[in-house]
Amino acid sequence: MKKIKNNFKELKTNLKMSWCFVREEKLYFIILVILSLMLAGLSFIIPMLSAQLLLKLTDGLLKDLMLVAIIIFFIEILRNVILYFFRKIFELYSIKATTNAQIKMFEETLKIKTAVIEDNTTGMFIDRINNDTEDIINTFSNLCSVFINMISNAGVFLAVFVINKYMFIYFVLSFIIIAVIENKRNNIYYERTKKLRLIDEKKTGLISEIVRGLQDIKLLNAQSGILKRTRRQLKDINDERIGIVKVTSNFQFISGSVSDLFDVIFYALGCLLVYLNSLTIANFVIIYTYKSRIENLLSFYNSFSMHVRNFNLSATRVFEVIGNTFDKESDKGKNINRINGKIEFKDVSFAYSKDNVLNNISFTINKGERIGFVGSSGSGKSTIFKLLTKLYSLNEGKILIDGEDINNISNKTLRKNISLISQSPYIFNFSILDNLKIGNLDASNDEVKEACKKADIYDVIMDLDDKFNTFVGEGGVMLSGGEKQRLAIARTLLKKSNIILFDEATSALDNVTQDKVQKAIYGLDKDKTILIIAHRLSTINKCDRIVVVDDGNIVDIGTHKELYKRCSKYRELYDCEIV
Ligand SMILES: Nc1ncnc2c1ncn2[C@@H]1O[C@H](COP(=O)(O)OP(=O)(O)OP(=O)(O)O)[C@@H](O)[C@H]1O
Ligand SMILES: [Mg+2]
Repeated sequence: MKKIKNNFKELKTNLKMSWCFVREEKLYFIILVILSLMLAGLSFIIPMLSAQLLLKLTDGLLKDLMLVAIIIFFIEILRNVILYFFRKIFELYSIKATTNAQIKMFEETLKIKTAVIEDNTTGMFIDRINNDTEDIINTFSNLCSVFINMISNAGVFLAVFVINKYMFIYFVLSFIIIAVIENKRNNIYYERTKKLRLIDEKKTGLISEIVRGLQDIKLLNAQSGILKRTRRQLKDINDERIGIVKVTSNFQFISGSVSDLFDVIFYALGCLLVYLNSLTIANFVIIYTYKSRIENLLSFYNSFSMHVRNFNLSATRVFEVIGNTFDKESDKGKNINRINGKIEFKDVSFAYSKDNVLNNISFTINKGERIGFVGSSGSGKSTIFKLLTKLYSLNEGKILIDGEDINNISNKTLRKNISLISQSPYIFNFSILDNLKIGNLDASNDEVKEACKKADIYDVIMDLDDKFNTFVGEGGVMLSGGEKQRLAIARTLLKKSNIILFDEATSALDNVTQDKVQKAIYGLDKDKTILIIAHRLSTINKCDRIVVVDDGNIVDIGTHKELYKRCSKYRELYDCEIV
């Protein structure tokens, strides 16, 4: 009982929250409810008329019988017409409401903190956006129509009560007993399905990784290893599915047998009542026609309670993403029109999980400076850039921009004014032009052209058949590594930020192209603050200053000449490259 109460409490909350997706399609929803009511009304009238048909037949009134049959015929036609419109409108409504739900899910997924996304599988978000949103909308509507059907059929109990009290008691008892068994089955089904969906998410994540990593799988000749892993994952899912089928079919067998037993009791009770003159044969026949409707009512109740559980399950999974279960980036903080470009790190420490990746680092970069960052792989250079762009939150210390703590600056302002070209920039399967304008939709054609020329990608684009309208494939697969990097640089230059962070942004370019792009970077407006991470030290020795990072610490800051003289770590890195 407590479980049923909790289910309905959960249902109430979820229905309230789901209404926001349905609200925009209110008109469709209202039409659907009206059509459902009409269908429910007709499904009440038709059996009443069928009972009349039987009475006329037993009384030998053939003329009246024909009239009732014709009325039933027209009502059936009307029912089919209503059903036709119901299905059509239902399809339209489902598509629109599901789209609303999916857009809301996308919007909210984009707000989730990077660290939280990394801690979970991508499958989790894909499944919830794709399947659970669809489930919510469909179940929401199914719930309504099943509920209406239940209400309209409940009248049949009243009819039986009026005809015969003993039969009524029989129907109520049989209904309750079978409903209790089915309820138990639904509870088990719910718990197992919840578990299944979590395993399913992992499978979706694995599939999306396999598809994206297909080329590496082939080159590593790793097909058999990957197949083994996939098989293991599918086996876990199949085991769970088989478990669910086993449990539910056991319960189906029990409830089927119990309802067979009730059938026997029905006939025995009917015969006894007729024998005792408590029931006429005609009324027994009428109650017999109602029997199937009461069985229908039971199956409506079953699907209703199943829909309630499915709805609660999907809705909980969707609202976990839309609500606050996952940490989201807050959009609090000041909106500043223009950031000048002074950067200060004050005793910053940071750990992705347990061990510190950055230890108490401090440095100041003035507006307009060109600063290089060097250090061994894994020393923490990219992490510094990620903290500056608030992809992760600091554990200790402060980062100031123009003297303002970045925690007090809104993400929107910060990311508009700071651009980061990461080590592996993502190029979308859009046209080149759409990829370029993704961070600045208002960029003019001239601005696009100028940015492409600076990034030395203009000639490459003009050589393509569809020029700026060329589609580049998922992740930009149709471009070379260097072309992707140059496109990413052009895309960032178009954002016109005052602080630009280059993280190994030219590592895939040949020396001549790299030289050209580097000159363009150094030649950018002197107002812009530019930070460059590079492994090829020759590309940054023209920087105003260079920061040497080692194992999460800043070991020295100075010009190339100063560092070469006094910093052994820098000398080691530089000499290795020269040799
Ligand atoms: N998302 C992450 N989750 C957990 N640990 C991470 C994550 N990103 C980086 N690390 C760890 O943090 C440390 C510093 O990484 P970072 O990417 O800052 O190094 P880097 O100096 O940029 O190296 P490289 O020159 O190879 O790019 C590494 O030990 C790395 O394994
Ligand atoms: Mg890095």
